[in-house]
Parts: sequence; structure tokens; C-alpha cells
Amino acid sequence: RCARQCPLSCICVRDSGTVTCRDAEHTELPGDIPVWATTLILRGNNISTLPGGAFSTNNGTELELTTLSLSHNGIMVIEADAFTGLPRLNLLDLSHNPLVYISDRAFHGLRELRSLYLNDSLLAPAVAQLSNALQGTETLRNLHRLELSGNRLKTIPISRLDAFNLHTLVLTNNSIENIGKDNISSLYHHKRVRIYLSLNPFRCNCELESFYLWLKNSSQCVDAARLLCAEPDAKKGIPLERLRGEDVDCLNENLEAVSYVFLGIVMALIGIVFLMVLYLNRRGIKRWLNNIRDACRDQMEVYHYRYEQDSDPRLANVAV
Ligand SMILES: *[C@@H]1O[C@H](CO)[C@@H](O)[C@H](O)[C@H]1NC(C)=O
Ligand SMILES: *[C@@H]1O[C@H](CO)[C@@H](O)[C@H](O)[C@H]1NC(C)=O
Ligand SMILES: *[C@@H]1O[C@H](CO)[C@@H](O)[C@H](O)[C@H]1NC(C)=O
Ligand SMILES: *[C@@H]1O[C@H](CO)[C@@H](O)[C@H](O)[C@H]1NC(C)=O
Ligand SMILES: *[C@@H]1O[C@H](CO)[C@@H](O)[C@H](O)[C@H]1NC(C)=O
Ligand SMILES: *[C@@H]1O[C@H](CO)[C@@H](O)[C@H](O)[C@H]1NC(C)=O
Repeated sequence: RCARQCPLSCICVRDSGTVTCRDAEHTELPGDIPVWATTLILRGNNISTLPGGAFSTNNGTELELTTLSLSHNGIMVIEADAFTGLPRLNLLDLSHNPLVYISDRAFHGLRELRSLYLNDSLLAPAVAQLSNALQGTETLRNLHRLELSGNRLKTIPISRLDAFNLHTLVLTNNSIENIGKDNISSLYHHKRVRIYLSLNPFRCNCELESFYLWLKNSSQCVDAARLLCAEPDAKKGIPLERLRGEDVDCLNENLEAVSYVFLGIVMALIGIVFLMVLYLNRRGIKRWLNNIRDACRDQMEVYHYRYEQDSDPRLANVAV
């Protein structure tokens, strides 16, 4: 009886309330999910669009899903109201999909949602839309955990942390080189947020200062010990925590530059003074050069004379 209620090419386990449809090449969502299902796992199918009301037209019966996993389905578009009719949903996993469009109202109605996974799933246009989609509808007030690993993110893609009840933000394996002052001050303001940042290519120059001080001063970054410098080459692979204050101090860096400039100026001054001494002494120097020349000439004459004498064959014969 149970088997008969199960959608085509899915596996249903009534005890755990789980329906799993893997690698079934569904191109749409199955429309006949049993009403007892609390966990729906759709994976490895080919669903390019999640249309509005995708889960509310289940043969006219409301679903009581608490967990919905839609990873690896080739989903590119999430339309407005895609998840309406799932008021109990607690966990939504959209990882490993090539998302290019997320409607501002994509997550509308997910009042109970606590965990949202979007690992390795945001292409550039979707990154820009994410912030609006998360905040636009103000329904994700209970969001506790947001995972955004492997999305080539360069900054924290959310504009306000106070729109949610966020406790955990996972940003590992992205392209974050630094975290700017604005983001740092909003993290200081939301102390309950724990953030993961390993596997990002941090650029360890003096612009890192406010982030570096935050790492040292706050315990909000859970994997702080695993953050490594990727640039410059001289610091590649060095843990951020092992940097010294001077390494990220712009004043220090500027002072160094200033000291080189200063050294250059001093050298130039010495050169000018030297040239001036030469110039002012030009008469004396001329005299001196003349003296040297005369001395040389005298020397040469003496030498010449001797040579002539030495090479005179008659004198040689006399000697023999
Ligand atoms: C997925 O479905 C679309 C049509 O909806 C089709 O063009 C495409 O080839 C399918 N991809 C795979 C990998 O099956
Ligand atoms: C759902 O609707 C289909 C027809 O669209 C029908 O064959 C099926 O029996 C219905 N399932 C349930 C559980 O009502
Ligand atoms: C990505 O999301 C999955 C859920 O599918 C989660 O279990 C996993 O920890 C996440 N991976 C990373 C690297 O954070
Ligand atoms: C990092 O993310 C990329 C996709 O951006 C993925 O291909 C790769 O496997 C991830 N690496 C790790 C260590 O999770
Ligand atoms: C983080 O920084 C980015 C880029 O400067 C900005 O768009 C975003 O609003 C900031 N988010 C927070 C929470 O400060
Ligand atoms: C450390 O953080 C506190 C606020 O939590 C702040 O007042 C203080 O200035 C910070 N110290 C440094 C060195 O950044």
C-alpha cells in the first residue's frame, strides 16, 4: 500500500517520513508526494526551473515537509513564491545547482526556515540577487544557519545581518581577499554571529588591518587558526594569526616608503654638494691636473731618454 502511494522511481520510508528520488531524471517535481512525508530528497534530477507554488499543488493536499533537499538538480531559476505551501520547512538545501536567477520573493513564506544551504550554487547574477531574496520578504526571521561555501564570493553578499536571527555564516572556499571595515563593524555589532572563512585567498598587506584586529580581538571567526595568506608571495601560506602588527600596519608601510624617499634625497644632496665643491674648486683642480700632467710629461721624457740610450747599439757594444 505504501509502495503504491510512492511517486514513480522514488523510495519512500514511512517510518522516517522520508521520500527520496535520486537520479531519476525528473524534469519536474513529482506532483504526488505522500502527505505523511516530512523529508523530501530530490537529487541528481534535471529540474531547470522551480516555478511559483511548485510545492503547493500536490494533488490539492498540503505538505508538512520540514526538510527539503534539492541539491545536484541543475536548477537555474527560482521564481517568486517557489516554496509557498511549506510553512513548516526547517532546512532547505539548494547546494550544487547552477543558479542564475533568484527572485526577490523566492523564499517567501518560509517562516520557520532555520538552515539554508547554498554551497557551490551561485553564479554571478545570482550572487547579486541573493541579498534581496533573503531580505526582500522579511519572512526569514528565524534563519539561523546560512552556508555559502564554494561560490567565488569576494565579499559578504548580505547587506544587513539584523534581518535574520543568524548564528552561523559559512563562507569557506570562496574568493575573499579581505573583509572591509564596514563588514567588520557590522560583525562587531552582531556578536552572536559565528563565521567560517577558511580556504579563502587572503591578501596580507596593510589593508588587512581592521580584519586582522577583529580576528585577534573577537572570537567570532570559528576557524581563525586555518586562515592563510595567499598574497604577497613572501607571505604565501602563512597563517593570518601568525602575522605581526607591523605586517598589517599601513603607517609602518608608509614610513618604510618615506624612509626610502628620504634616503634618496640625502644621496642626491650629497651628490649636489660634491658637484658644487668640484665647481668652486675648478681653478685649483685645473692647476692640480696641470701639475699632474707636467709631472707625467717629465717622467715620460726621462723614460724616453733612458730608452733611447738603452737601445743605442753603439752603447751596447761599448758595454760588451
Ligand atoms: C535537462 O532537460 C532539458 C530540457 O528541460 C534538456 O534540454 C537537457 O538536455 C537535459 N539535461 C540533461 C543532462 O539531461
Ligand atoms: C494525484 O493525482 C493523480 C492525477 O493527477 C492521480 O493519478 C493520483 O492518484 C493522485 N494521488 C493522490 C495521492 O491523490
Ligand atoms: C554544504 O552543504 C551541505 C548540505 O548539503 C553541508 O552538509 C556541508 O557541510 C556544506 N559543505 C561545506 C563545505 O560547508
Ligand atoms: C571549492 O569550491 C569549488 C567550486 O567553486 C569546488 O569545485 C571545490 O571542490 C571546492 N573545494 C573544496 C575543498 O571544498
Ligand atoms: C559587506 O560588504 C559589502 C561590500 O562592501 C557590502 O555590499 C555589504 O552590504 C556588507 N555587508 C555587511 C553585513 O556589512
Ligand atoms: C576589541 O573589541 C572591542 C569591542 O568588542 C573594542 O571596543 C576594542 O576597541 C577592540 N580592540 C581592538 C584592538 O580592536
